[in-house]
Amino acid sequence: MSTLKHYLQFSDLTADEYAYLLQRAALIKKKFKAYEKHHTLVDRTLAMIFEKASTRTRVSFEAGMYQLGGSVVHLTTGDSQLGRAEPIEDSARVISRMTDLVMIRTFGQEKIERFAQHSRVPVINGLTNEFHPCQILADIFTFIEHRGSIQGKVVAWVGDGNNMANTWLQAADLLGFTVHVSTPNGYEVDEKLAFGERTPRAGCYKIFSNPKDACQGADLVTTDVWTSMGYEAENEARRQAFANWCVDADMMAAAKPDALFMHCLPAHRGEEVTAEVIDGAQSVVWDEAENRMHVQKALMEYLLRGQMPE
Ligand code: CP
Ligand code: NVA
Repeated sequence: MSTLKHYLQFSDLTADEYAYLLQRAALIKKKFKAYEKHHTLVDRTLAMIFEKASTRTRVSFEAGMYQLGGSVVHLTTGDSQLGRAEPIEDSARVISRMTDLVMIRTFGQEKIERFAQHSRVPVINGLTNEFHPCQILADIFTFIEHRGSIQGKVVAWVGDGNNMANTWLQAADLLGFTVHVSTPNGYEVDEKLAFGERTPRAGCYKIFSNPKDACQGADLVTTDVWTSMGYEAENEARRQAFANWCVDADMMAAAKPDALFMHCLPAHRGEEVTAEVIDGAQSVVWDEAENRMHVQKALMEYLLRGQMPE
């Protein structure tokens, strides 16, 4: 029990663990494409708890777990006792006695932390208001597939200082690259949340008031919706505040000529990104989405079994 490993935020794993996971995910992807069996989690069960909507996270975890030889249980707030105020601690105690691994998508990070504290099995963050570590893991894997090591590279974050942005900060600190962050006033990233009381690695992120300046010389330009799940009441105010934070051809032209474009999806063409960019030649959003499954298979296997031989 003392060696129980959770994945609640990106900083829960070390750079060495990421190096292993990224190469393991590449192997798992290669085997999957070659129709080779990779049954490392036979008889294991993943519980997936969704308190917010999902397409990619649901499909990637569910398909991924079956491909590893395991099975899944899908729960939502509406169809479980979670929606009828059963304490999260009790839910954790019960669910973790019957399953081997739990993935949760919820609102506050404190909720997933409370669940983890009372869980007998590893817990994975499938998105909270604060962090989205599985997505950034997939994004980094995708970058490496297309361009090689991300170390020393520049990632431009254009838009909301949200769960994705906070997670990029943690990743840049840990894996040795720089994030250029540009958000409208009032929607900044939360450094305290990303780093706690710790001083992050010098130069791991820089703040820009002008989004085009943030894109200058970037190896990757990335953005996300203006209004994340749970913030819908702010929709109109956000539309106005974010009007100049739409990734367009002009911003991409400021980045390196071979810069990639990423978006965790779902996207709103004409809001945070133009159709020209997201559907253009520099966009790798479909690889990015697919890679959620491959990296999460490596992650689930690692949390349950540690490093494994080929
Ligand atoms: N990117 C992502 O997490 O997508 P879903 O909300 O569809 O799971
Ligand atoms: N920031 C978005 C990501 C969706 C995958 C949200 O939290 O809604």
